[in-house]
Amino acid sequence: MTNRIIAVINQKGGTGKTTLALNLSAGLALRGSTHLVDADPQRSITQWVAMDGGNSGLPEVTRLGGNPTAVLADLARSHRYVVVDCPPTVQGETVAAIMRAAHLVLIPVLPSPIDLWASVDMAVAVKEAQRNNSNLRACLVLNQLESRNALSRDMREAVAEFDVPVLISGMQRRAAYRTAAVEGMSVYGVGKRGQQAVADIEAIIEEVLCL
Ligand SMILES: Nc1ncnc2c1ncn2[C@@H]1O[C@H](COP(=O)(O)OP(=O)(O)O)[C@@H](O)[C@H]1O
Ligand SMILES: [Mg+2]
Repeated sequence: MTNRIIAVINQKGGTGKTTLALNLSAGLALRGSTHLVDADPQRSITQWVAMDGGNSGLPEVTRLGGNPTAVLADLARSHRYVVVDCPPTVQGETVAAIMRAAHLVLIPVLPSPIDLWASVDMAVAVKEAQRNNSNLRACLVLNQLESRNALSRDMREAVAEFDVPVLISGMQRRAAYRTAAVEGMSVYGVGKRGQQAVADIEAIIEEVLCL
């Protein structure tokens, strides 16, 4: 049973960390007890989940307090999966501590080489974390894809040069991700409107659980 603690990280804002963390946790919750950790001082996840008064079918959420490594290890003892939404930074002790506890880092990136290279410090930070945590794996997750085959040649080349592998599955650009967020739901909670987005997330989960 690997990949129990999954941290969603990127130093850049707006790449889809919160969207991926929340929907991933909703999908994992269908498979086993799942806890969502809000490590972002902006508290997007906490606000998202608070929005509908607890009827969204979303996992329990806690804010990450004092000692991230201990808190995450503790949560992993009582839950099958723990998903951590991280602040947009790799600087500082918090994200480093999260990476020491995690089994898997997922790095959502927008499908442009410029955005990928803006995340290059991430690869360095992951390598650094792996020196203390040899179990740690990391993958890029492409977000806001325009269609299944829309990856430009430039992007393919940029990804191939990046030190972190990329998941085959990604998230397409879909209105459902936004509307679900507005309603305080995951894409699993908005019925038919979320169907295709659910398929994205399910493919990501299946891939991640086989890593
Ligand atoms: N695949 C997607 N399709 C459509 N909108 C998306 C998608 N991924 C993210 N968004 C939207 O983009 C914005 C930024 O995403 P967010 O998850 O908040 O990024 P981050 O947490 O990295 O700052 C949000 O408004 C979100 O709803
Ligand atoms: Mg966020």
